This record gives sequence, C-alpha cells and structure tokens, in this order.
Amino acid sequence: MSSTNRSNARDAHIADYYKTPLKPIEDFLTKFCYEENLKLENKKILDPCAWWDINNPMSYPTVLTKLWANNIKTNDIREDSPAEYHQDFLSSTLQNVYDIVITNPPFNIAQDIIEKALQVCNRGGMSLCY
Ligand SMILES: C[S@@+](CC[C@H](N)C(=O)[O-])C[C@H]1O[C@@H](n2cnc3c(N)ncnc32)[C@H](O)[C@@H]1O
Repeated sequence: MSSTNRSNARDAHIADYYKTPLKPIEDFLTKFCYEENLKLENKKILDPCAWWDINNPMSYPTVLTKLWANNIKTNDIREDSPAEYHQDFLSSTLQNVYDIVITNPPFNIAQDIIEKALQVCNRGGMSLCY
C-alpha cells in the first residue's frame, strides 16, 4: 500500500512490466515476413522496451534471433533490464537509424512510443508496436 492508502497494483500496471509470450510473436512475425517477403537477416532492428525477468529471456529479441535476425539492439528504461541500453526511449535523439523497430510498449505511452519509433526508422523502415 502507498502512503495514500491505496493499492500498489495501479503502479505496477502503469509501469507495465507485462511479458509478451513468445508464441504469438513468432506466429505474427512468421506470417508477416512471409506476406511482406521480408528477410530479417542483416536488418538493423531495435526493441526499445525490452525488459525481462529472471525466468524469461527478452521476448522480441529471442524470437527475432530464431527467425535469423542478426543485428538487434535492445533498450529499456529499467536499469535492471539486460538490454544493451537503458534510456527513456522517448528522450532518444536517434533519427532515421533502424530498418525495423518492434516492441510491446507500455499501454499508457503506446502512442508516444509508436510515433518515436517512426522517427528512428530509416526511409522505408517499419514500426511494429503491439
Ligand atoms: C509491456 S512491457 C514489454 C516488455 C518486453 N518488451 C516484452 O514484450 O516482454 C513494457 C516495457 O517498457 C519499458 N518502458 C517503459 N517506459 C519506457 C520508456 N519511456 N523507454 C523505454 N522503455 C520503457 C518497461 O520497463 C517495460 O519493460
């Protein structure tokens, strides 16, 4: 309970440390790559919200690697994430860098993350946030 005597559950929800299951990511990406004739190998890919916990690997990088991606950068605002970078993605000054940005953003800032993802994609790049 917080000092205002309300449950901490809401804070956990806002922080949004929900782990995306691997199977739906793999199903989606397999079909998407097939339909778009997209090869992930040698694409510059960013997961900007890539937290994990002790029992689970980072969801999107795990599936992307399985589907032959070999140039994946990871970021998460949490210092305890094993992501390579620990920045607020919304403050990033990156522009036009990645071929693909893919993540499951926190719901409360999903729109902002999607718009930021589009800014860091290069020309012809794609933002997949769901
Ligand atoms: C819904 S979880 C997704 C975790 C993981 N990507 C997955 O799919 O299993 C959202 C993640 O966004 C991170 N996050 C929240 N705000 C952020 C921000 N401004 N910049 C970067 N990461 C952020 C949280 O720490 C959390 O790990």
